[in-house]
Amino acid sequence: MTSSTQGPLCGPVSAPGKAFLIGEYAVLEGHEAVVTAVDVRAYAHAPRDQHGERPDPTSPFVAAAVELVTGWLRGHDHEVPKPDSLPVVTTVGFTTGARKLGLGSSAAVTTAVVGWYLRAAGLDLNAPQARQAAMNIAREAHTMAQEGRGSGADVATAVYGGTVRFALGGGVQPLSLPGWLTIGFFDAGAPASTGSLVKAVEAGARRDRASYELAITELASASRRFQSGLDEQSDPATAFGMIQEACAVHNEGLRALASLAKSPIMSERIETILGASQWAELAAKPSGAGGGDLVVVFARDSAQLDRVAVDLYHRFGIALVRKLETDANGLRAEPRPPVNSRIHGLFKRSVTQRREAVALATGLDPARFKDADATALDLETANHMVENVVGFLTLPMGIATNFCLNGRDYLVPMCVEEASVIAAASNAAKMIRAGGGFSGFSDPPWMIAQVQLVRVGHDSIEDVAEWVRADKAGLLELADDSHPRLLARGGGARGMEVRTLDTDTIVVHMLIDCRDAMGANLLNTVAEAIAPRLEQLSGWRSVLRILSNLADRRASHVSCRIPAAVLEANDIDGPLVAERIEEASRFAELDPYRATTHNKGIMNGVDAVVLATGNDWRAMEASAHAFAVKDGRYGPLATWRAIKGEAGRTIALQGDISIPTAVGTVGGATRTHPTARLALDILGQPMGGELGLVMAAAGLASNLAALRALATEGIQRGHMSLHARTVAMAAGARGAEVESIAQRLIDVGEIKPERAEALLGQLRAGDD
Ligand code: MEV
Repeated sequence: MTSSTQGPLCGPVSAPGKAFLIGEYAVLEGHEAVVTAVDVRAYAHAPRDQHGERPDPTSPFVAAAVELVTGWLRGHDHEVPKPDSLPVVTTVGFTTGARKLGLGSSAAVTTAVVGWYLRAAGLDLNAPQARQAAMNIAREAHTMAQEGRGSGADVATAVYGGTVRFALGGGVQPLSLPGWLTIGFFDAGAPASTGSLVKAVEAGARRDRASYELAITELASASRRFQSGLDEQSDPATAFGMIQEACAVHNEGLRALASLAKSPIMSERIETILGASQWAELAAKPSGAGGGDLVVVFARDSAQLDRVAVDLYHRFGIALVRKLETDANGLRAEPRPPVNSRIHGLFKRSVTQRREAVALATGLDPARFKDADATALDLETANHMVENVVGFLTLPMGIATNFCLNGRDYLVPMCVEEASVIAAASNAAKMIRAGGGFSGFSDPPWMIAQVQLVRVGHDSIEDVAEWVRADKAGLLELADDSHPRLLARGGGARGMEVRTLDTDTIVVHMLIDCRDAMGANLLNTVAEAIAPRLEQLSGWRSVLRILSNLADRRASHVSCRIPAAVLEANDIDGPLVAERIEEASRFAELDPYRATTHNKGIMNGVDAVVLATGNDWRAMEASAHAFAVKDGRYGPLATWRAIKGEAGRTIALQGDISIPTAVGTVGGATRTHPTARLALDILGQPMGGELGLVMAAAGLASNLAALRALATEGIQRGHMSLHARTVAMAAGARGAEVESIAQRLIDVGEIKPERAEALLGQLRAGDD
């Protein structure tokens, strides 16, 4: 069988990462492990010129995969793609900042490369024989590249996907996870290497074989118990009990191994996560070799998991690893490679060329960009959106490049009237990318519906508050009944708070999980639905029934760590720039007057994305500034610190932002405005807090750009060149003339319309 090695058959291929659910260490002794494919993926695809992509033949996993798969193809009489057609490998989501999560990226990379060659040779990756071939080749290549270590479970999930039971030499069997089981992963910090932990355990086993075997027996029995829990179909409560027991036994086994190996397998952060999960009656255990990295938490519904996530983040800074879906598809052909947000020289291209470049990068049809024309919103639609319509105010929409967040690239649509915001955000995102990009965590989408109760009669306010609190369960149920569609989407009432504001006023807060909606309408519905019951319970009168726009439970938290060297500006070396940016941050931390301007710079980025995606920017602004006073004084939403290395030298700059992001991806203008729909498509239809994270990242990038300029050359120089461009355009300059005239205006030191007109005349006459 032969086939072409060009054209669509050379199309992209992807393979998922994996996470252990149970059976770590025991699997190395021949016992069963349960491993699930997670939807972070490695892609093998042809290099794309517009992103300057080049294959990396030095990766041992790529090299081993290429060597073995080409050998296999030759041996089976298939045509082999030419040696110069090596694929590029792009991994999406395997990292948090510069740190790689233990999600089996090397097996996914190896498998994707093997799959790419098989697809290029014309094999159908869904066919059992092709899968078997991929499994055998990738397994051998992976073993070869990592010099013989590894159980092979990660290659099995990369090829087959789903969730599998796996034993060394015993093959792979698919397992199904019960529909009620919710699985989350927490980031327990940078791990010791799996290899070194396994070696320490082996050394411990040589010292004390009996204790080692006892620990392995425990770990193996935990794995069996866990699998019985998965098999238990009839009763979720019994099944979940088994999973809890399995995790507890597994953790005991790991503690025994840790003391045997004298290794920090059960780190402090891991124990913190286990403690919080146990307290919330969930089941948890490290996923993988331990020492840090991931902890898997099992819950019976997502609300339980969200509660633990909020607790761990706010008390210990431990974040749930975003959107890590389990049971993902295995090796598969893809319609297109993933987004690469690095597009060289986008600013130099024409609008049409930019549309084409963004369409190419995102896989959107270039014709969609007519939705970004100034006329995209028609009068008819506008007339239904608001009242007394007479026309439009249009704003430019641009695309910020270089954004990489939680290991995924985004091209970020921004609508703003102020020059330089988009360029500055792109430039800052490029520096942040040099440190691994942004990493972030979003709170669950919990918002507050408020009901104000005012005094009627003489009952003590404490008694009245207590009567309301006593019916919490009934009130939560009533709130859920008022919005069955939200319940069906996985949202609903999550909690209730009763606050006494003065001797005559009580306010009741209903905490509602709004899922992917901004939530204003549904929160108002809930507030109105529970008010009559609150009146009955309290005997007081309800007044306002409305959401709170202080979305402090729905914040996005984004960080970045930039290598100091890349911050160099205007002959000031990078470490010094980092220190000056820290000083600038401290100014905002000490002074509300500066904090306001600092936050304005952040909102330059945030609001531009809020506007582009059709979200409510007044809500965003109100919430951000109220949140900025959460410590009792108005402060900065983002802060910066220079990070010191050996001998006290500054090696990096750490930036952190927390900002409420009450934004939706369903409903409102996100649906009715064609440009907003396009913006969401350019972002890849973000779900579940992802859009808020992109907004926070845009804010952090804008802040970095402003502080770097302010702390070095000052803001005016950059502003002058923008001002010069505006003056040049107003004088009639077009295309390449704009830059040319702007530069001449700066050179002559006179940025005035008359001068611009004269220079333009000279330029066009050719006598310059
Ligand atoms: C201008 O739009 C924003 C800045 O003033 C922000 C700042 O001062 O940090 C440059």
